[in-house]
Amino acid sequence: MTVTVLSEVAAGAEDLSVWPASTQRLPHGGLAVGGVSLAEVADRFETPAYVLDEGEVRGRCRTYQDAFPAADVLYAAKAFLSRAMVRWVREEGLGLDVCSAGELELAVTAGFPPERIVLHGNAKSPRDLEAALRLGVGRIVIDGPSEIARIAAAVGPEGHQKVMVRVVPGVSAGGHDKIRTGTDDQKFGLSLTDGGAQHAISRILGQPQLELTGLHCHIGSQITEVKPYLVALRRMVGLMARIRDTHGVVLSELDMGGGHGIAYRPGEPALDLTALARRLRAELHKGCAAARLTVPRLLIEPGRAVVGPAGVAVYRVLAVKHTGEKVFVAVDGGMSDNPRPALYGVRYAPRLIGRASTAGRRTATVVGRHCEAGDVLAADVELPGDIHPGDLLAVPVAGAYQLSMASGYNLVGRPAVVAVHQGSARLLVRRETLDDFRSRDIGD
Ligand code: LLP
Repeated sequence: MTVTVLSEVAAGAEDLSVWPASTQRLPHGGLAVGGVSLAEVADRFETPAYVLDEGEVRGRCRTYQDAFPAADVLYAAKAFLSRAMVRWVREEGLGLDVCSAGELELAVTAGFPPERIVLHGNAKSPRDLEAALRLGVGRIVIDGPSEIARIAAAVGPEGHQKVMVRVVPGVSAGGHDKIRTGTDDQKFGLSLTDGGAQHAISRILGQPQLELTGLHCHIGSQITEVKPYLVALRRMVGLMARIRDTHGVVLSELDMGGGHGIAYRPGEPALDLTALARRLRAELHKGCAAARLTVPRLLIEPGRAVVGPAGVAVYRVLAVKHTGEKVFVAVDGGMSDNPRPALYGVRYAPRLIGRASTAGRRTATVVGRHCEAGDVLAADVELPGDIHPGDLLAVPVAGAYQLSMASGYNLVGRPAVVAVHQGSARLLVRRETLDDFRSRDIGD
């Protein structure tokens, strides 16, 4: 009995199913990603380091392009953005979804064609709109009634801007309450149920300088089932038919947002992209045929599923503490580089790298170095019993919503980002240093 449990645990530790496809075992407990040993990355670039497998990002972009050949796939920059990421996404033929002047300017200055960018945001600042119009962003997604007059005024009577409308279709989906956006009890979009969307659409159609190209919805994030997307799509097609009937306008685009769920630990469910593509297409054609509507061009906006599984966080163990029944393994990062466990209770599967251990496995909680008891990276995970300061821990599926949500808490500084590809490693984003903090702090 005990033997079975142990071997299952050991097998779990060896399960690399959520790691990048390029991951290889090296002798003596090492692991390589993109042909580069993670322990070498740690030595060369120090820790914590976020390792991004360029081949995995590009491969995932291609998977989307293959699964959705007739759609526009826009990478959601909020998951992670850097100049290299902008280039990879552009070279793979994707568009981009941004939600601030910061993301927009970074993308455009890194060479991304502005006409292939969509700007989102529930509260667009004057700077966001100024940047969008100055840089010639492809579409602005209107999220609330007050934006209509604001955008029209900013565009000016002689100007022209393509816009979409974010509709709340009344579908509840997503991995956590904080990331469910398809129902009326949250801040995004215009309601289908209370008629807010319909009213906004009439007003937009009355603004000659705004060209309404289509509707948008994003029902939530970390969704692992196809069904909520189909329900949302049906409602969106219904609204498009009503717009045609009421205003005589046939909209040419339907953006179904992102939210495609991934596995963070072996055995967890992930959204089946092929099934999603097939069933969305079928539902779209069926709904449009029934309403005698021209089939709109489909847009999708995946973020997490493009970059999440391509990232690995590498930490150095600083302290191991035994308290009562518990073992705490403290590493040199924490909630400032990954707030997701604290925010959403997400579970990760860290793993010892860089040395082999024959010690029995025991349950430990991996914590960060921040001044809060809630600074937990991975609660109750199985790690070798001889884990000690100086060891390296690697956490897979670290590419999305970790660094992009990183903070300056305790002035620990945000980690370096290192790209690995075909056997070589290069620094993409340097580590944040005390000098960075000092240079922004200009008063006394
Ligand atoms: N489109 C829109 C309009 C969005 O708001 C989002 C995500 C996406 C696309 C991309 O969703 P994805 O495919 O990445 O799920 N911080 C949370 C996730 C927040 C998602 C926000 N919006 C997390 O760490 O789970």
